[in-house]
Amino acid sequence: MASRTGSLMSNYPTNRRVTIHDLATWKSEGKKFAALTAYDALTAKIFDEAEIPLLLVGDSAGNNFLGSIDTIPVTMDEMIPLARAVVRGSTRSMVIADMPFGSYERSDDLALENAIRFMKEAGVNGIKLEGGVRVASQVRALVTAGIPVMGHIGLTPQSVNALGGYRVQGRGDAAQKVIDDALALQNEGVFAVVLEMVPAELAAEITSLLTIPTIGIGAGAKCDGQILVWSDLLGLNAKSPKFAPKYLDLRSEMNAAVTKWRDDVSSGRFPGAEHSFH
Ligand code: KIV
Repeated sequence: MASRTGSLMSNYPTNRRVTIHDLATWKSEGKKFAALTAYDALTAKIFDEAEIPLLLVGDSAGNNFLGSIDTIPVTMDEMIPLARAVVRGSTRSMVIADMPFGSYERSDDLALENAIRFMKEAGVNGIKLEGGVRVASQVRALVTAGIPVMGHIGLTPQSVNALGGYRVQGRGDAAQKVIDDALALQNEGVFAVVLEMVPAELAAEITSLLTIPTIGIGAGAKCDGQILVWSDLLGLNAKSPKFAPKYLDLRSEMNAAVTKWRDDVSSGRFPGAEHSFH
């Protein structure tokens, strides 16, 4: 059944959230889907109304909204209120929370403890963590506990220092490692896997190898879904990566509006009679 705004997705829910089964169905039907990051209730509501099936409360909050240079300093205590706000602001999008650096690497128990915090304190529908073979044990522990897990391989921004920068991963001989990571994650039961900054040909190969959906970011056109950081897509960030188009120049629009209002205040044009009480 088509949704009320005529979504292209089959069975787009009218009165429930998108589930991991919907994503699996869309993969089997060859229907591509969009996903966006969200960090607050206001934008989550806009994206939810626009029928974006998956909202990721990314640790990209760190470098996009919390003022850090990368995602490494982000903590669970910072992420939980953001995730809770995105859940509160949405009714139909699936909400996935990103496990920040340091919240899962050390042990299965630590990963479980923090993933359970996201589920209980924020009410998210699942979590994402970075890494392939190296986090297989944590993924297994979470999946066994009934927590939907999304993988993230290729460029994993939490490892930016080890990777020597935000570089394309999986070129040439390095392709096999990305394939092995994808297969290991699928084997441990992730419901989808993000492929970040890998060659389009490699992402296409992984997408056809896997039975679970792939979600690309800088990974070409053949992934089952595409995800972007919303402040890149809508032009709020001063600089955005090559793979992120600007569908809006929000930064300039906001600057122009705020400057105009500042001038209206200075010149006495604001507030007008219509903004005053008598
Ligand atoms: O943190 C994030 O926003 C992400 C996506 C870009 C995949 O991990």
